[in-house]
Amino acid sequence: MGRSPARAIFPGTFDPITRGHIDLVRRTLQIFDEVIIAVLQNSDKTSLFTVDERLSLIRGEFVDAPARVHAQSFSGLLVDFARSNKSTVVIRGLRAISDYDYEAQMALMNKNLYEDLETLFMIAREEYSYVSSSIVRQVASLGGAVTKLVSPAVERALREKLRAPQA
Ligand code: PNS
Repeated sequence: MGRSPARAIFPGTFDPITRGHIDLVRRTLQIFDEVIIAVLQNSDKTSLFTVDERLSLIRGEFVDAPARVHAQSFSGLLVDFARSNKSTVVIRGLRAISDYDYEAQMALMNKNLYEDLETLFMIAREEYSYVSSSIVRQVASLGGAVTKLVSPAVERALREKLRAPQA
């Protein structure tokens, strides 16, 4: 009998996916068999891209590994998503020390809710240490170049989205 695949969850808002996220997923694949990119279906945050658009942009980045990278949306608690997807590992990236408080709070809360769940932190690569989806949205909306921060497909999607009148 074979072992079950080691599956990590990489949760976030991904509005949109950045080169920093992509790098973290690829590094996670060096350690785990599968990664589920879990996109939060947020009702309180106003996002630029719809959940379906975000999922489709994510899937477009990993067409080379369809059996190992899965993109799914979730709502509610991350621990419930982890339980129903039979994973006990959450991956989060740390860019700077300023990320720490928020990340530690989430990791401890999640541990409190689900004792078996471990949050593993990966330090963002230096060149992506300042990259966030929100900075990408802001720079793109003001007409700045985001070529180094996102893939060509995401850059195109940003251009189209920001050209269209916002709903
Ligand atoms: O990309 P983000 O916005 O930093 O991701 C945050 C995310 C989606 C990981 C976090 O908000 C989350 O897990 N939300 C689901 C609700 C939840 O489980 N809350 C309890 C833990 S604080």
